[in-house]
Amino acid sequence: MDEIELAKRRAVQGAIPYLQGAKVIGIGTGTTVRKLIELIAMDERFTRKAYLSSSFDTALSLMRQGLYVLDPLTVPHVDVYIDGADEVDPQLNMIKGGGAALTKEKILAYFAKKRIFIVDYTKLVQKLGRTRPIPLEVIPSAMTMILRLLKAKGYEVSPRLSSKGKYGPIITDTGGIILDLWVSGGVEDPAKLHDDLKKIPGVIETGIFVDLADVVIVGYPDGFKELKRRNKVSKLHG
Ligand code: 5RP
Repeated sequence: MDEIELAKRRAVQGAIPYLQGAKVIGIGTGTTVRKLIELIAMDERFTRKAYLSSSFDTALSLMRQGLYVLDPLTVPHVDVYIDGADEVDPQLNMIKGGGAALTKEKILAYFAKKRIFIVDYTKLVQKLGRTRPIPLEVIPSAMTMILRLLKAKGYEVSPRLSSKGKYGPIITDTGGIILDLWVSGGVEDPAKLHDDLKKIPGVIETGIFVDLADVVIVGYPDGFKELKRRNKVSKLHG
């Protein structure tokens, strides 16, 4: 197994104690989350809990493992939400949406009592947006006008295209199109950029997550560390 795979696995292991007391667990999307699902499906402490999914992909993974998936319409709250991330800065601001599931991910994270993120060490950055674009989910009919506006503001921005099985832009689980927006030099003020983008009519959600992480568990090949709000870093747990 390569180092990053091992690091993801360590982060997943570090998250287990946070899930134990929860009855309703919201689950994010991505390769790290898939490892979590595989692990909890084999553990009796988790097989009788109820799960809320942030995407079709995660719902299918949970179902395949025989875990109980709730309809979000029937659920007023989430005890714990757990997800991966694409980038995490020292203030625990994050970029998410690498799997185009950012809108439902943000809804579940916002309404959860506790939010845990699991990442491998390569996701830690000093400043968001230097190596990854900011995903924006937009209403399809507004795409052309939003692209024009953002380009006029000086951003490099383009629709995320399907790489397989469909021509043209990908359509998300929530019916939107993803625009990937590059910020030259990285994002100076994530909260402000989110607010500015969210004001544009037709923008459904941004992949900038601010104040939505209570704990980030960072996996390394030989253990994991916990990052908590106010920059508290734990020792390396083996
Ligand atoms: C999906 C996401 C994922 O959490 C993010 O892309 C990280 O994925 P991975 O665990 O595969 O690195 O935001 O929309």
